[in-house]
Amino acid sequence: MRPIKFNSSCKSNSYTSHFELLNSDYTLFRDKHFSAKCLNWLENTYSSSHLLLTHSATGGLEIIAQLMNLKDGDEVIMPSFTFVSSANAFVGLGATPVFVDINKQTLNLDLDFVEEAITPRTKAIVAMHYIGHACELGRLRAICDNHNLFLIEDAATGFGGHYRGKPLGAIGDFGVISFDITKHISAVQGGLLLINNADFAKRANQIYHNGTNRVEFENGETSYYEWVGAGSKYQMNELNAAFLYEQLLYSEDTLQHRKRLSQLYHGQLKDLATKGRFSLIADDLVASNVHAYYLITANQNERDALQSFLKVNNVEAFFHYIPLHLSTYGKAIGQYIGGNNTEQVSESLLRLPFHSNITDEDVEAIVLLIEKFYDGR
Ligand SMILES: Cc1ncc(COP(=O)(O)O)c(C=O)c1O
Repeated sequence: MRPIKFNSSCKSNSYTSHFELLNSDYTLFRDKHFSAKCLNWLENTYSSSHLLLTHSATGGLEIIAQLMNLKDGDEVIMPSFTFVSSANAFVGLGATPVFVDINKQTLNLDLDFVEEAITPRTKAIVAMHYIGHACELGRLRAICDNHNLFLIEDAATGFGGHYRGKPLGAIGDFGVISFDITKHISAVQGGLLLINNADFAKRANQIYHNGTNRVEFENGETSYYEWVGAGSKYQMNELNAAFLYEQLLYSEDTLQHRKRLSQLYHGQLKDLATKGRFSLIADDLVASNVHAYYLITANQNERDALQSFLKVNNVEAFFHYIPLHLSTYGKAIGQYIGGNNTEQVSESLLRLPFHSNITDEDVEAIVLLIEKFYDGR
């Protein structure tokens, strides 16, 4: 059996010609030729948001934290089952991360625990859409409105996902999407910041441009640009935008391929899941599942044994987030509200190979191996 990698880098066949074009004319670099093309494309999908291409989703989250004027003692609610970037941006400005447990069906925030976690010091809720599955944004919006909180969507793995017909990232006050090489649509490294509350657009532009009013100058609103506040260089590198552009043009094909893979895995693993060997992604999420395909085994020993069995048979499979509330730093500075779903899921979740080069035959071969593993038990 041919080795099957967990992920494979996304291709950008036109990158070489895009680079040659940029290299032939300094003004194309200066005027951010490909960033402008990417934004133009993205504006069709996210028509009601103010968009900024960033060097990473991490950078986008840092801009959001600055927009909220966080101070020491403020609290930000977020899942424990997420990547450190969801927390770092806010912690960097002195806020306390309040980690909340997940719902076992969706692996997103458990909203009953979210309500329990709210105090007079709470400033915001970070809704991380796990592998693109939408959080309950309707109820979250109502909670935020009741308590005067910001709603932040961490849709790092959510490109192509929707909630009630609206694209993920475009629904909360702010959102981020990641175009890292590990994501399904990639700039090699990059991100998208979505400002959905127009009141924050001007200040976001300033933070994004090293704390200057450069955009106001470019729009002819001021005769020169100057330093107006704190900020940094958050822009996407133009070479990354040159890579991303083709990825966006073909993104629908990429998403379709991945949705098909999800359905293939799901159909073929269903039998074993029904026998209670492991649990799968909820049926109603499969048709729109684009970032990863996972199964949840009975416990950590079984997950690790299955991962090793796949590895000796040349198939790479990986676990995912380690609970932030159990990490060294998370324990030192954070709080946790919830039960043990986060821990259990983190210990027993295994992500299967999922990328553009996976074929139907690969899925069949992987499922056969999983069947063989469970036959022997
Ligand atoms: C939930 C979540 N948020 C934020 C990030 C950070 O994204 P980036 O690598 O683009 O900074 C990641 C990265 O995997 C992530 O999984």
